[in-house]
Amino acid sequence: MCPDAIGPSPVILWFVRVTVSVPPKCMMKPWKIDSPTPLLYMDFVSTHTLLPKIKIEIRKRKEMHLPLLITISVIAIALAYKLYQRLRFKLPPGPRAWPVVGNLYDIKPVRFRCYAEWAQAYGPIISVWFGSTLNVIVSNSELAREVLKENDQQLADRHRSRSAAKFSRDGQDLIWADYGPHYVKVRKVCTLELFSPKRLEALRPIREDEVTAMVESILNDCTNPGADSKGKSLLVKKYVGPVAFNNITRLAFGKRFVNSEGIMDEQGQEFRAIVANGLKLGASLAMAEHIPWLRWMFPLEEEAFAKHGARRDRLTRAIMEEHTLARHKGGGAKQHFVDALLTLQDKYDLSEDTIIGLLWDMITAGMDTTVISVEWAMAELIRNPRVQQKAQEELDRVIGLERVMSETDISSLPYLQSVAKEALRLHPPTPLMLPHRANANVKIGGYDIPKGSNVHVNVWAVARDPAVWKDPNEFRPERFLEEDVDMKGHDFRLLPFGAGRRICPGAQLGINLVTSMLGHLLHHFCWTPAEGVKPEEIDMLENPGLVAFMRTPLQARATPRLPSHLYKRVAVDI
Ligand code: HEM
Repeated sequence: MCPDAIGPSPVILWFVRVTVSVPPKCMMKPWKIDSPTPLLYMDFVSTHTLLPKIKIEIRKRKEMHLPLLITISVIAIALAYKLYQRLRFKLPPGPRAWPVVGNLYDIKPVRFRCYAEWAQAYGPIISVWFGSTLNVIVSNSELAREVLKENDQQLADRHRSRSAAKFSRDGQDLIWADYGPHYVKVRKVCTLELFSPKRLEALRPIREDEVTAMVESILNDCTNPGADSKGKSLLVKKYVGPVAFNNITRLAFGKRFVNSEGIMDEQGQEFRAIVANGLKLGASLAMAEHIPWLRWMFPLEEEAFAKHGARRDRLTRAIMEEHTLARHKGGGAKQHFVDALLTLQDKYDLSEDTIIGLLWDMITAGMDTTVISVEWAMAELIRNPRVQQKAQEELDRVIGLERVMSETDISSLPYLQSVAKEALRLHPPTPLMLPHRANANVKIGGYDIPKGSNVHVNVWAVARDPAVWKDPNEFRPERFLEEDVDMKGHDFRLLPFGAGRRICPGAQLGINLVTSMLGHLLHHFCWTPAEGVKPEEIDMLENPGLVAFMRTPLQARATPRLPSHLYKRVAVDI
């Protein structure tokens, strides 16, 4: 816990004064002065010769004991501070925290699974210490409601690591902004302008172009005559990834950096390098982030961050200028986010940093999440051939075998929608959402959450809680036909997009894209495991990280099931 979050204790202040200024008596050896003279007489006779000697002796002893004293004082302060916190706050229970590092070394790499295990032992609300920072994790739907509804406003800040602070210019974007007037303003821009139903509809052709391009490329790779590819297994991510990448770059920047031959242009390569470098820089500080006084050992690579920021700004400005020029040349504003933000800049008083920050937020938040959702859904569909077949029967019944699916069909495909929902229930791409930070002292589940603590909702554990889900680990989309469960923040049993003030603004876009990708993959192909792998042998564990990719990327075999003329990309130029 950072001290300013809770406020200095008078006990600690007293302790610091007493322990650091003079060594305690018990730690000093008795004075030994080489003179048999009684002290009184000594004062009288040779004050001017003995006094300096005594002073030197005192200084020497003080110096000798100083490191030891500092160590003891630090430990004592830490203990007193902990005790003070314990007495002042009733914190949630949790695993025993070690001095300095807290629970950092006990946390297993796949955090949400580790927290779920701890929740079994300590209860649905637990304290986990990252160094000196208190993290509270809640793992059931009632507590999720308390966090995301009843105390939503007090728990709507973000913890910005040093790298997040650098990337976001101290929260001038949306993702890393604390809750306040700036956040309210940019959130309004997102809700009313960027993710409005009208704009989502206007950008639909881009999504359909990319999804049909995926189908074409899968067909090429699984049937290409001559190549030894027939019946060969495909790496599913290789086909789903480009849909998400191209969709997001076109939506945000109006750019498809990759041509129809799959070659990426120079700007695209620069874009990719910036994304990769951002990930590298972001990860490099992780440990030191949680132990403030250790940070001097891990100085922020100021120069590397400055270079990264300048590179990102240069590319984004160049793209912004291209769009401004195109608008001035005529043809009016396009629908891409960059155009929307530039034309709304004055209306909403948006700084250039905010525009750049928002554009990159969409890239960061909107790319991996959709890929992860589709990859897990496909793994479940391959493990559950019954579900796959049922979804295909629905697609054949509603769409037939003579045309391809469109997003407008989704409303007539309830089983397909349930498949997407069930995949997001069992495999939320951000299993701990993004941490929220308390901007005031609050109470959750009867426990104190002091200002400055981070609060995580383990949406993965909530969605598998046997108290609210029947057969929670079973992939059974029918459950959503039997009971309509909202997944956009109204039902606290299912929260893949979060809920409340900070709910994902791209939720509808994400749902559309994921459902459309799944629909196309199932309508056009039958999917079976890679050769020699049984469905039940597919590795269903996750990679560590903020987002939960499959630990072993999914390999599968695709067999076409529609007439060959339906596998062509439907390219659009918007
Ligand atoms: C299946 C796809 C997606 C899932 C599961 C998902 C999930 C989430 C979650 C759990 C959060 C954190 C909510 C919180 O802090 O309480 C979030 C935030 C966010 N998401 Fe998504 N997301 C998806 C797709 C997208 C897309 C496509 C975009 C944009 C193009 C997007 C943009 C954002 C942004 C900007 C935030 C930050 C909101 C804030 O801090 O106020 N997401 N998302």
